[in-house]
Amino acid sequence: MDFEFTEEQLMIRDAARDFAQRELIKDVIERDAGSIYPTEHVKKLAELGFLGMLVDTAYDGGGMDTVSYVLAMEEISKVDASVSVIMSVNNSLVCYGLEAFGTEEQKNKYLKPLARGEKIGAFLLSEPEAGSDATSQRTTAEDKGDHYLLNGTKNWITNGNTAGTYLVIAQTNPEKKHKGINCLIVDRHSAGITVGPHEDKMGMRSSDTHSVMFNDVIVPKENRIGEDGFGFTFAMKTLEGGRIGIASQALGLASGAFERAVKYAKERKAFGTEIANHQAIAFKLADMAVKIENARNLCLKAAWLKDQGKPYGVASAMAKYYAAETAMEITTQAVQIHGGYGYVKEYHVERLMREAKLTQIYEGTSEIQQIVISRDILK
Ligand code: CAA
Repeated sequence: MDFEFTEEQLMIRDAARDFAQRELIKDVIERDAGSIYPTEHVKKLAELGFLGMLVDTAYDGGGMDTVSYVLAMEEISKVDASVSVIMSVNNSLVCYGLEAFGTEEQKNKYLKPLARGEKIGAFLLSEPEAGSDATSQRTTAEDKGDHYLLNGTKNWITNGNTAGTYLVIAQTNPEKKHKGINCLIVDRHSAGITVGPHEDKMGMRSSDTHSVMFNDVIVPKENRIGEDGFGFTFAMKTLEGGRIGIASQALGLASGAFERAVKYAKERKAFGTEIANHQAIAFKLADMAVKIENARNLCLKAAWLKDQGKPYGVASAMAKYYAAETAMEITTQAVQIHGGYGYVKEYHVERLMREAKLTQIYEGTSEIQQIVISRDILK
């Protein structure tokens, strides 16, 4: 078993760290306060090759491995999870879905611009009445011979407004239940698409989250991914990798808050000494470090399995579940260690705590990950 990173993996981690610590940090508080989309930072992500880092170079991607992706996601999420979710959805939901299951024509037309970062992608699965219960899709893709007619509403869509390419999950044959669902590639500017207002969220406030309405949107038949009825399996398979991205994001939120807590504990004095010298704080830091290390190892294990071509669905659910729970706990403890300072924006940890909450909810709640893990144990 080799726990060493390669030189290339370390270079990618350092490039992500440098970008986050030098550039993202500058105005992250203002972006959060004003829900301001990080336009320039997303351009920089494209220049760094991070928007399509997992895509094969043959399709204009970075050809990097999933371990490198975990390292980059952790570093960026330590500073700004709104930026890392844009990167995660584009890479591990949209680009992965197209690369793994798209036709050659679909890859040339849609994957390449996404991998180059010229366009952003969005993954439209969640609906007002189908979040966790993803088989109950109400959006319909009616088969009209040479095209589908798309109608319905999607909710909580990351990159909902900025995306140029949507992957839309919709029901074609309701009598076949989940086996009647399809995934369609949809141009965001097609006639009949309306994007709702930006959601005013608790955290990850500067990422672009919207509802999207489809009203008789015509989608050519050649834009369906896979065979008729493959859409639900497509969504599940794609989410397996997506969960590695969000697990790594949760890891970054935890480790970012932890680094700030350690620094503060070594500087802040109370009862005649730095608070780190009090066991109440030192033991807390020890517990936090162990949990972060566990979360990191679960993320890297899931990534390694994926890179080896081995099954990774349960490993990614475990990583997502544990890292999200850890992120919530560690960011809360980091606020506690900071005391009153932790509750104000200047010290960043209150924002990390708000952002951590979302990692327990999106790309499958913690309870969904428990379902995936327990079904595997009990099967
Ligand atoms: N790979 C392949 N096939 C899979 C699969 C997987 N990982 N998981 C399930 N399936 C298949 C099953 O084999 C089954 O097929 P058959 O009938 O042919 O056997 C079919 O899918 C239905 O599976 P289940 O019976 O297990 O379905 P279920 O309704 O009981 O539950 C679930 C499945 C795991 C709960 C699923 O609905 C789920 O993951 N829900 C959460 C959805 C989610 O993560 N949403 C996130 C939205 S995306 C997002 O947040 C992006 C963003 O913007 C950040």
